Amino acid sequence: MNKQSKAPSEPTLDPDDWAQFRAKAHEVLDMSIDRLENARDHPWQPVPSDLKQRFSREPAPSSGSPLSQTIEEIKTDIFPYATGNTHPAFFGWVHGAGLPDSLIAAMIEAAMNSNCGGRDHIAPYVEQQVITWCREMFGFPKGASGILVSGTSMATMLAMVVARDKASANSPHTDLTAYASMGVHSAISKSLNIVGVGSKQLRRIKVNNDHTMDIEALAAAIVQDISAGTTPFFVVATLGGVNTGASDDLRSIANLCAAHNIWLHIDGAFGVWAKCADAPWRDAAIGMELADSLAFDFHKWPSVNYDCGCLLMRDGDQHRRAFSERPEYLRSASHGLAGGELWFCDYGLELSRGFRALKVWMALKTHGFDGIGQVVSKNCQQALLMATLIEQEDGFELSFKPTLNICCFQAVFSGATRLELDQFNQQIATALQLNGTAVFSTTTIDGRSVLRAAIVNHRCLNQDIEQAVKGLREERQRLLKHQPRPI
Ligand SMILES: Cc1ncc(COP(=O)(O)O)c(C=O)c1O
Repeated sequence: MNKQSKAPSEPTLDPDDWAQFRAKAHEVLDMSIDRLENARDHPWQPVPSDLKQRFSREPAPSSGSPLSQTIEEIKTDIFPYATGNTHPAFFGWVHGAGLPDSLIAAMIEAAMNSNCGGRDHIAPYVEQQVITWCREMFGFPKGASGILVSGTSMATMLAMVVARDKASANSPHTDLTAYASMGVHSAISKSLNIVGVGSKQLRRIKVNNDHTMDIEALAAAIVQDISAGTTPFFVVATLGGVNTGASDDLRSIANLCAAHNIWLHIDGAFGVWAKCADAPWRDAAIGMELADSLAFDFHKWPSVNYDCGCLLMRDGDQHRRAFSERPEYLRSASHGLAGGELWFCDYGLELSRGFRALKVWMALKTHGFDGIGQVVSKNCQQALLMATLIEQEDGFELSFKPTLNICCFQAVFSGATRLELDQFNQQIATALQLNGTAVFSTTTIDGRSVLRAAIVNHRCLNQDIEQAVKGLREERQRLLKHQPRPI
C-alpha cells in the first residue's frame, strides 16, 4: 500500500516515526515477557501513597508528550503495582493467574481493533466457535446460544433478563421470587435489583453441613411462595461456591425446577471447569447440562487474561428475543460488511464490544480443555495438600475438608474472643500480602472469620503451598510474640 504523507493541517493520532514506535513497542513487549517469565519475583506490592496522590492531582493533559516519556512513566508508576495475581502464591478471592498467550492475543486484538457487536468480519465467527466448543463440552443442546461478556456477574444479569421476560408475561416483576443457597455470590442479588425484581425477592435457602443447598428447604420455600400467590421464576444452583467451593446437587435441583416450571440458572464461575478435571472433582459438574442458563468465567481457572466470562442459554431463540432490537441504522444486509448472520448485539446489552473471543480461542487452541483440566486437578490436589499441612500445624483449625479448590482455616490462640480472632486472621492475611509471601483473602465460614485460599493458579507449585503454610505459621508466631493480645 502507498505510504501517505501527512500535511500539518491534517492531524492524525498515528506516530510520526514508525521506526521509533516499533523499537519502543518491542522494548515493552520484552518487558512484559520478562514480567511473566519471572512472575515469582513479582508479588503484589502496595501503591505508595505519594503516587496515589499524584494520580489524584495531576491535571488532564491538554497537549501530548513523547511516547518514550509515557512509557517511562508506565514503567515506574504503573507496571510495578498490579493486583499480584500473576504470582504463583496468589490465592485470594478467585483470581486467574493470566497466560503468556493472552499477551500475544492482546497485541493482535489491538492491531485489529474489531468491533464485535455485529457485521461480517472474522471476530463473530471466532466467538461463535468458542461458544460452540463450550456448548459441546458442557453438554448444552444444539439450539443453545451464548455470548462472551465481562464476567459471571454480567452473564448472570443477562440470564435473569431472559428468565424474567419469560415469567413476567403473566406476573408483574415484583411478584417474582428467586432462590439460591445462603452462600450464593452477591452477583445474584445485584442482578435482581437491576432487572427490576428486587433483591428482597431472593429467598436464601439454608445449607447442609457440607455447604450445599438444602433441597428440601428449597422445595418448601417454592411451595410456600406459590401458595402465597407469588411466581417462583429463578433458581440459582452453584457449581463451586465462592466461599467453600461446595457444589449443589445440580440434578436434583434441575428435577425440582422442571416439576415447577422454574428457570434453572447455574453459577459455575470457576466450578464449571471441574467438568474437564479428573474424578472425583469432575463429578461436581454432573447435571450441569440440565440448566436453562449457565454463567462461567474464562478469566478464572483457564487463566485467560481479564476480562472474559460467558453465558450459555439452552433456548437460543428466547435469548435473542430478549435482546434483539435493530433500528434502521443497524439493519443487516445480505452482502457486504453489514452482512453476517450472527450479530452478538442481539444477545446482550452491548453494541460496541471488543474482540474478547480471540484470547479465549487462543488459550483453548494452545492448551485444550485437557490442559485446563490438568490444572484444575492439580489445584484441587493442592487444596487438599494445604488442608493436610494446616491440620498438622498447632494454632490453626481447618474449617472443612476441601471438596474442590478452596481451603479455609482459622488461626487461633487460647483465650481469644471472637472479635480478637477476627482481627488476628485479618492481620495475618495483611502481613503475608505486605511481605510478599502469599495472598490469602478472608471470609466467614459457619460464623467464624477465616483465612481462605481459592487455588485457581496454574503457576502454583506444591512448594508454594508449603512455603505459604510456613509463612502462616511464622506470622502467627510473630504476631503473638509482639502482641500477646494481638489487637
Ligand atoms: C461463584 C462465583 N460467582 C460469581 C462470581 C462473579 O464473577 P465475576 O467476577 O466474573 O463477575 C464469582 C467471582 O469470584 C464467583 O466466585
